[in-house]
Amino acid sequence: MNSKAPEPLPEALDLQRLPDHVAIIMDGNGRWAKQHLLNRIKGHEKGADTVRRIVRTSREIGIPVLTLYAFSTENWERPKTEVAALMQLLKRFLRKERATMLENDICLSAIGQTERLPSEVRNELDAVKAATASNTGMRLNLALSYGGRQELVRMTRTLAAQVAAGRLTPDAIDEDTVSAHLYTAGLPDPDLMIRTSGEMRLSNYLLWQLAYAELYVTNTLWPEFSRKEYLDILVAYQQRDRRFGRVRA
Ligand code: IPE
Ligand code: IPE
Ligand code: MG
Repeated sequence: MNSKAPEPLPEALDLQRLPDHVAIIMDGNGRWAKQHLLNRIKGHEKGADTVRRIVRTSREIGIPVLTLYAFSTENWERPKTEVAALMQLLKRFLRKERATMLENDICLSAIGQTERLPSEVRNELDAVKAATASNTGMRLNLALSYGGRQELVRMTRTLAAQVAAGRLTPDAIDEDTVSAHLYTAGLPDPDLMIRTSGEMRLSNYLLWQLAYAELYVTNTLWPEFSRKEYLDILVAYQQRDRRFGRVRA
């Protein structure tokens, strides 16, 4: 048997009703490492394998946009050695995955204060973004040095500057104006937000964009998050009743 043949999909999964955008908080690398008596860095390395698995599965079933929280603005406060290791890992990931993204028609983008990333990571990121820019099979969007509040401050400053310059009137500002000035401009809001490792919080992730997302928190630690669990969560998502404040017809 060809070991590369994709495993079967759950029968209950309706490929016509997938979320347009899945956002994930990849949490629990440190706890996984601790459980296995390993250094936290080993947990992040193992977590990178899960990233590959979930990207591959998303592309295979046809998720249009996948946003992964890889590094928050608050994560800069972690020990220097851990931050440095995460940056190295990110650089390696970008370098190694470039060919796979090209093969699979995946377009890479990033949201966040990417100007704060070390220049060698930024250069790699810019190179992969440019190389994959015309790909349309899936958008892989990495939240890097990302914080939702910082994003809202940045948007507010941009709009305030336009008003001050007389190019925008306050009355003309609506929800679309706000959305168009966030890092995620042009992307649909996430329909589903998954967080691994059990924490019931947003940790400054996509504060505006998640307004009506379905939330799914699993206790599984990110390094152990499997293709099967991901697909099962998508099935559970399809069984949710999304009312958007209305009464069911
Ligand atoms: C998520 O795993 C990865 C990043 C935040 C970069 P953690 O490193 O937060 O793992 P825990 O929460 O300590 O288990
Ligand atoms: C959120 O996880 C950020 C990322 C997954 C990149 P954290 O581990 O940093 O969040 P807290 O500290 O538990 O809120
Ligand atoms: Mg964590």
